[in-house]
Amino acid sequence: MLRIGMLTSGGDCQALNAAMRGVVKGICTKRDDVEIYGFQDGYKGLIYGNFSMLTPKDFSGILTRGGTILGTSRQPFKLMRVPDADGLDKVEAMKHTYYKLNLNCLVILGGNGTHKTANLLREEGLNVVTLPKTIDNDLWGTDMTFGFQSAVDIATDTIDRIHTTATSHSRVFIIEVMGHKVGHVTLHAGIAGGADIILLPEIPYDIKVISDVIQKRTKAGKKFTILAVAEGAISKEDAKLKKKEYKEKLAKRKYPSIAYELAEQIQQTTDKEVRITVPGHTQRGGSPCAYDRVFATRVGAKAAELILNQEYGYMVAMRDGEITKVPLEEVAGKLKYVDPKCSFIQEAKMIGISFGDEL
Ligand code: F6P
Repeated sequence: MLRIGMLTSGGDCQALNAAMRGVVKGICTKRDDVEIYGFQDGYKGLIYGNFSMLTPKDFSGILTRGGTILGTSRQPFKLMRVPDADGLDKVEAMKHTYYKLNLNCLVILGGNGTHKTANLLREEGLNVVTLPKTIDNDLWGTDMTFGFQSAVDIATDTIDRIHTTATSHSRVFIIEVMGHKVGHVTLHAGIAGGADIILLPEIPYDIKVISDVIQKRTKAGKKFTILAVAEGAISKEDAKLKKKEYKEKLAKRKYPSIAYELAEQIQQTTDKEVRITVPGHTQRGGSPCAYDRVFATRVGAKAAELILNQEYGYMVAMRDGEITKVPLEEVAGKLKYVDPKCSFIQEAKMIGISFGDEL
């Protein structure tokens, strides 16, 4: 008997169901002595032993369905070693569930935080195979994560819609795109949507540069300016602060998010009317795009192969277009940032897109 525990952890994204379907179909076409334990709401289900027994039928018809049939939750890695309110040791509890159910392996779908805990469980002796999910595409060790392309499509569609209304008004429009630490979604959606200014956490901006770009566009007869701004975009001034100081500053910020702070500054420095659009969680919602369905199916099938071969301790990844495996210890705790020097940024600058850093 092959006993598999499965969970989805952290913020959800499109194609989680497609990936799980890939894993289960991949295993069940080769073996029929399989038991699948679906843990509810991520690591929480593993800690507290909340699961349901699933059959291959439960994974049918979910290729196009957004969200996750297992539910998810955020269980911060830094709190994993901290006992819960009742004094429960969470790591020991997860191990207890695993051994009690006599599992052969855990299939874990998640992003950065999830991978730190997955690696911890590996170090504790559990068999783990992980799949790379997150709209942010910031997982180290893989060129792509599922959810990313779907989120880019949605953010791009938002910018497209703003474009048509922008052409009717002489205004500045700010679209705030998801991504607190990294700007992959903003960079791609910004270019795809034809944004004039793109602000990323990796390239600190100068508000004077932004104002100058807007004024120059006005002088050149352009009626509007569109900014694609990552949630974690940061000014050059704030980038000089220590992490703790910046966190304290953010906690006291009077604005709900960066878009509102920028809007006020742009209004003051350019005298232009500014409008804000925050697509927020729509970027994680709905059906996965075709790319994500294919990619999630491929990584799901690869995970099935690893499990059937009893190759554990890996994240399934994409490198140079090929689906491969990367040791979990290499992935855990590392982020894949946008490289400010990459050709992508240079090409965008070549066609006149400003990153708010220089004129
Ligand atoms: O990590 C994915 C992500 O969608 C980020 O881009 C975003 O900043 C964050 O999650 C939002 O998290 P939550 O759903 O917990 O508000």
